[in-house]
Amino acid sequence: MPAHTITLTRPDDWHIHLRDGEAMQAIIGHTAKQFARAVIMPNLKPPVTTVALAQAYRGRIEQALSACGVSKADFTPLMTLYLTDKTDPDEIARAHEADSIVAVKLYPAGATTNSDAGVTDLLGKCSKVLEMMQRVGMPLLMHGEVTDPEVDVFDREALFIDRVMIPLRKSFPELKVVFEHLTTKEGVDYVRDASGPMAATITAQHLLYNRNEIFKGGIRPHFYCLPILKREVHRQALVDAATSDSPRFFLGSDSAPHAKGLKENACGCAGCYTAVHALELYATAFERADKIDRLEAFASFRGPDFYGLPRNKGVVTLTREPYVVPLEVPYGSETLVPLAAGETLPWRML
Ligand code: NCD
Ligand code: ZN
Repeated sequence: MPAHTITLTRPDDWHIHLRDGEAMQAIIGHTAKQFARAVIMPNLKPPVTTVALAQAYRGRIEQALSACGVSKADFTPLMTLYLTDKTDPDEIARAHEADSIVAVKLYPAGATTNSDAGVTDLLGKCSKVLEMMQRVGMPLLMHGEVTDPEVDVFDREALFIDRVMIPLRKSFPELKVVFEHLTTKEGVDYVRDASGPMAATITAQHLLYNRNEIFKGGIRPHFYCLPILKREVHRQALVDAATSDSPRFFLGSDSAPHAKGLKENACGCAGCYTAVHALELYATAFERADKIDRLEAFASFRGPDFYGLPRNKGVVTLTREPYVVPLEVPYGSETLVPLAAGETLPWRML
């Protein structure tokens, strides 16, 4: 008999987009219900490039949480800084002192949503900053795709390993690096075998779907995110990694809300919304691989262990009960469409 309930130590989401203002107010309760902590991405407009901006953003997050009845003890936002060509190494030292900031995020300029202010040449422009990060133990979270428009969109992650990741880690072998939203077999092989402090987050959509999903019966914008879904062989490699014994792979949903009209559009935005049902989606993927017993390590243990933070106390429970993903959820004055809207998942979080 398959288990009827699963109880996990409270999990964390190591990669989330919360946005700001009324959009944030509309969705923040979803993440706070599912997770005890989340690493908050800094790709706002303007980006969160300084400690002062991160602290102000954190203040707005705390207000939004309290407005939906979530206490400080129930959910902790872990803040990040947005790396630019001009980031000052002293800002990293200040971030290290400010205990609410846990990492620095690299967006290669032009790689994804709100990445215009990102880095144009990592080793060329940011060596002093990287040196400081390595010295104080501040992790670098990397959006791992090259931005060269000549490179096929499906090859951008694999090429990033050769062009950016390997040279970076040769120059800064002790720098803590997280390869964010990993999507390829090449990425899995690299992260698994690399020497030094290295990890990766994996989204639910990349565990559940391959790239055919975007084109089933027509173009389906709610399956479009960056890095884009890849071939089946890559999905399988990601499932193997997430459900393996390696401590290097952990949960980062990359839930990235965009209003319905901006997704269902002639030039639709990249991002899948998974915050409302993240655990249900991950549980579905782990069960399909017959590895539901590995979900807790992936969702609740390996992330804090890598970041050097304590594991959470308390538990969450999932029940084997059909859960119909809502067709839409409110998003300020608009709505958004969650991943797998209208589909039935086998697990429900209580
Ligand atoms: C993210 C967003 O919308 O902010 N989109 C996405 O497709 N994942 C940005 C990002 O993480 O690349
Ligand atoms: Zn993201």
